[in-house]
Amino acid sequence: MRQAFRASILHCLADPGEASISSAVEFFDDGLLVVEDGKVLDAGDATTLLAHSHDLAVTEYPGKIIVPGFVDCHVHFPQLDIIASYGEQLLDWLNRYAYPAEMRFADKTHAEEVAAVFLDELLKNGTTTALVFGTVHAHSADAILAAAQARGMRLIAGKVMMDINCPTELRDDPVSAYTDSRALIERWHGTDRLGYAITPRFALTSSEEQLAAAGRLAGEYPDVWIHTHLAENKAEVEQIARQFPGSRSYLDVYDRFELLRARSVFAHSLHLDEEDRQCMSAKGGAVAFCPTSNLFLGSGLFDLRAMRAAGVRCGLGTDVGGGTSLSMLRTAGEAYKVLHLQDQAMPATRALYLATLGAAQVLYLDDKIGNFAAGKEADFVVLDPAGSTLSERRCSVAASAEESLFALTMLADDRHIAATYVAGEVYVSK
Ligand code: GUN
Ligand code: ZN
Repeated sequence: MRQAFRASILHCLADPGEASISSAVEFFDDGLLVVEDGKVLDAGDATTLLAHSHDLAVTEYPGKIIVPGFVDCHVHFPQLDIIASYGEQLLDWLNRYAYPAEMRFADKTHAEEVAAVFLDELLKNGTTTALVFGTVHAHSADAILAAAQARGMRLIAGKVMMDINCPTELRDDPVSAYTDSRALIERWHGTDRLGYAITPRFALTSSEEQLAAAGRLAGEYPDVWIHTHLAENKAEVEQIARQFPGSRSYLDVYDRFELLRARSVFAHSLHLDEEDRQCMSAKGGAVAFCPTSNLFLGSGLFDLRAMRAAGVRCGLGTDVGGGTSLSMLRTAGEAYKVLHLQDQAMPATRALYLATLGAAQVLYLDDKIGNFAAGKEADFVVLDPAGSTLSERRCSVAASAEESLFALTMLADDRHIAATYVAGEVYVSK
């Protein structure tokens, strides 16, 4: 079954911050995206493509912009209900808000209810793929992966491993963390569009035995993801140095336990030195830049220039509930401000890259998603510049689609997502 979608089309072929803009970004003012069996067949100028193909069912989106589905490189579904909780930095925020919320996930029904609402919120915001933290409970991973399967989404998730320095109700142990994660890998990894991530919360809440078990499991499943937090908060970094006096740095702790490799994704990574960045790059690890969280929790400013100069893969993450929005557009807007404070430029096309192709590269999924290259999975978003009266006024005087996209990174919310398509199927439409 062949379908086509007509609107402006914008997607990235490379990082516009590094390649020349003409080779990094492709734009069709009157574009056509042709989809067959859930995959991209072609993307190009509508008049040209329509002249060569007949019998195409064309869905028209006049005045709108089609971009690839957004990829959220780091988010916690169990923290949906504590988004925007007042007043603390990381370690106090975990104790006061995150851990109590996660304790409620001992109830499987609660986990299933939140998973469904969470994924519907992602899709409403144009996010079609995410790397997701569960809770310590194995059924939290079942809940989110089953909900993603029901929606046809490409999604990666894992049960959290944590056995020290946290409430006793949320502790597993090295053996159960290993066996539960292994069973989840066997059940879910590679099923439909789903993947599994071995998920030690952070080095602070795992014993050395547990980190070793996580590393052993990673060795047994080389194409499984590894997902954790790194160097987010100064007090956290100091505590890590006390807990692991034999390690050169926070990253070195993960490296020593064989948790740094291709498909390892480290949220935040704010307080690193050049040796860490070089090591991350050489070993194929990747980083989730979570600006709304870093500002909200008072954690620090992400140094994108240094990270990319070292060759580290970078993508955007919302980090809800430490982050304050599930919208990748809003997240891109905050990334712009974080970089602006450090004299680093972030044109809208680069923001789009970090939310799509760059994020797909973080997840080593850029052969499947991230842009409209022929053969990729047809996950895409129809952006509506007129989603609010204010954005409509602003975008009506924009000289280019890039200018409208930039305005949307500052002004947009889920009203600006006219439709989200998952493998060619419309999910949210209004
Ligand atoms: N570090 C360890 N756990 C968490 C968490 O839940 N959120 C954030 N932002 N950082 C963490
Ligand atoms: Zn997080």
